[in-house]
Amino acid sequence: MFYARIVVLYALLSICATNERKIKNAQKPVRLFTEEELQRYDGSEDGQPIYMAIKGVVFDVTTGKEFYGKGASYNALVGKDSTRAVAKMSLDPADLTYDTTGLTESQLESLEQIFKGTYKAKYPIVGYTSRRVLNEDGSPNIDFKPEDQPNFTVKDEF
Ligand code: HEM
Repeated sequence: MFYARIVVLYALLSICATNERKIKNAQKPVRLFTEEELQRYDGSEDGQPIYMAIKGVVFDVTTGKEFYGKGASYNALVGKDSTRAVAKMSLDPADLTYDTTGLTESQLESLEQIFKGTYKAKYPIVGYTSRRVLNEDGSPNIDFKPEDQPNFTVKDEF
């Protein structure tokens, strides 16, 4: 009788553990970056990772230090959401923004290609900008869906 109880208890615990795992997977936490937080990863400090956002998705571009590090050609793009600059292939300070207002069809297509073909393929996603995850009033945006990135495992720092 005593053993039977142990078996039942063990079975119940296993079911609970499985459910908990499922729930955790369903709501994988994402790291949220405010503009100020993202700015800390602009490559200006040696040893700090370098982050850059496109379409509100924050990529760790540290392995591309030769492009993005301090003094490198594309350093202006990092520590911020540079969607417009990437879409237009421009380093004009006015284009260093998330804002896509008025971009042409072909610029938007080019943005998609670079987003998928370069950034999602090459650099791990480490989080999302608050603009992408939250509504203007700060409430969660229920349409938010994290990007898949099957080539990379999710980083532990979340
Ligand atoms: C005369 C103009 C330009 C030339 C000749 C040029 C050339 C190149 C080349 C050859 C690479 C690849 C380097 C490699 O993989 O080893 C590269 C990468 C890159 N270019 Fe340009 N580029 C130009 C202008 C721009 C502009 C205006 C932007 C503005 C957004 C830009 C953004 C980038 C970025 C972000 C990368 C790195 C992508 C990565 O992380 O793999 N380029 N460029």
